[in-house]
Amino acid sequence: MKIGLLTSGGDCQALNAAMRGVVKGLANNVDNLEVYGFFDGYKGLIYGNYRLLTSNDFSGILTRGGTILGSSRQPFKMMRIPDENGLDKVEAMKSNYYKLNLDCLVILGGNGTQKTANLLREEGLNIIHLPKTIDNDIYGTDVTFGFYSAINVACDAIDCIHTTAASHNRVFIVEVMGHKVGWLTLYAGVASGADIILLPEIPYDDDKIIDAIKKRQKAGKGFTILAVAEGAISKKDAKLSKKELKKKLEEEPYPSVSYKIAEMITQKTGAEARVTVPGHTQRGGSPCPYDRALCTRLGSAAAQAIIDKDFGNMIAIINDKTKRVPLEDVAGKLKMVDPECQMIKEAKRIGISFGD
Ligand code: F6P
Repeated sequence: MKIGLLTSGGDCQALNAAMRGVVKGLANNVDNLEVYGFFDGYKGLIYGNYRLLTSNDFSGILTRGGTILGSSRQPFKMMRIPDENGLDKVEAMKSNYYKLNLDCLVILGGNGTQKTANLLREEGLNIIHLPKTIDNDIYGTDVTFGFYSAINVACDAIDCIHTTAASHNRVFIVEVMGHKVGWLTLYAGVASGADIILLPEIPYDDDKIIDAIKKRQKAGKGFTILAVAEGAISKKDAKLSKKELKKKLEEEPYPSVSYKIAEMITQKTGAEARVTVPGHTQRGGSPCPYDRALCTRLGSAAAQAIIDKDFGNMIAIINDKTKRVPLEDVAGKLKMVDPECQMIKEAKRIGISFGD
């Protein structure tokens, strides 16, 4: 059996753990396994940059962050557009797949990666996709790998801010990754006792943020901590069209939404406001034990799908069971936080403000 592996898009902590699960699951159950690793995501598949991997490559990587194959962003919308030398990328990917005579290509990545995986499926390749992203926004799986590891990092950052915030009577904003969704901010914010949590799914009102800060001040609390999703948006901005919003953001002097909120808080309350952006640390370090176990399960389940020749699927986890979900049913869909979900209601009940 010959399989290909590639990791595409932004990395996360548990990619190596997932690849190890796939390869061990196959090596223990099929004869004459050959594993080809394509470097730097789809780039390696397009330009034929790959290497035959050995069992040594997968030894000792369960706990190692990043990806042994490297990764890159190759936007889905550019896949049908020839490169600067006129190369047809889709044909090039197919040609490298057929040249190696692969039985299956295992693709680890997030939403954009998944769309290209589905495109390659439509083009006739045998594809298995594994749902990777710290954003947890892949539709059709309860959780993506990387998410829980990133919560740990974001949570550590907010925990550290807590002690210094208490000493200085300031307002602190910690900006959390997550692209267009608020899963990471919601979980890290609740887990670290943030006072105000702002998510893209719940546009905020400046006055509600100020009310929440004043309420804490009145109660004798010197500091307030906000966990703000990088995609958080005000009620006013949420009403703008995509084009209008883009123009407005380009004209604003802020590096990100948190700085805008910090300035607004200082103007309206006189309180000093500080911004911390943990940024890519949230994708770094070792995978947490949950992600190691999850990836071992997803990888092993992927191996079984390959053995069964059941291709064209994402391997998901639903109600603690691994499931094969057809790529055509999920590609291009986004899993967002439901503003009416239990977790938000529970958080509001204990006094956390969502700025709405
Ligand atoms: O999708 C993962 C993610 O870390 C997002 O949370 C973030 O918006 C984005 O990637 C950052 O991308 P890049 O690494 O390309 O700056």
